[in-house]
Amino acid sequence: MITIVRAHDYNDMSRKVANIISAQIILKPNCVLGLATGSTPIGAYQQLVEWYKKGDLDFSQVSSYNLDEYRGLTGDHPQSYRYFMDTNLFDHVNIDKSKTFVPDGMAEDYEAACAAYDAAVAAAGYPDLQLLGIGNNGHIGFNEPDDHFSRGTHLVDLTESTIEANSRLFDSIDEVPRQAFSMGVQTIMNAKMILVAANGEKKAQAVHDMCFGPITPSCPASILQLHTNTVLVADEEALSKCGELA
Ligand code: F6R
Repeated sequence: MITIVRAHDYNDMSRKVANIISAQIILKPNCVLGLATGSTPIGAYQQLVEWYKKGDLDFSQVSSYNLDEYRGLTGDHPQSYRYFMDTNLFDHVNIDKSKTFVPDGMAEDYEAACAAYDAAVAAAGYPDLQLLGIGNNGHIGFNEPDDHFSRGTHLVDLTESTIEANSRLFDSIDEVPRQAFSMGVQTIMNAKMILVAANGEKKAQAVHDMCFGPITPSCPASILQLHTNTVLVADEEALSKCGELA
């Protein structure tokens, strides 16, 4: 079931997303958060940092597992997702960094590393709240449209559309890694609550298909219809193809 929360614009979406994450931390100070990178959550992370600085939030007992990481980038590479998390959130709040986990983009024995990541998420009891963005093509994490839903953490060949969408953050499209490690769809579905954030017209089709399309691996986000507690916070543009449905 998907609960749709309408936001006016990006700032409103960000505050609403931050409010929900903040409520989770207040209700369960030692909660496990599943976190996402990308442009969408930056405003929500900024809002969380602001509330932390005001003394309203305490991350000291929180642990986190990120969805994905580019293959071949070290954690100090400015485009790596570890670097993103450090600079956008972790460095500015009192989270214990040893309890923040991001798949290792440099793992040599990557199959063992993926299995270990899954085992760690499972041992933590799976996220209380999993934050997700959504790709223009309906991907979640880096689970791209496919003929089946993935299970655990795995190596992914990124699609041309994702490489192109993400090239805006690199100096040139040739620098965008072609592969990434991503939590699988089954792992994502194990989270107790799923919070999807979406803004902008580019996401409108994917948001429509996620909420109202058939449940199919050709739109990985559509499986979230089967989760008992999915919340979508989306702005007007992202909801523009949902018409009267939403
Ligand atoms: C990021 C991730 C991706 C993004 C998605 C949307 O960790 O897993 O699925 O959430 O590609 O990206 P943005 O927010 O940049 O539009």
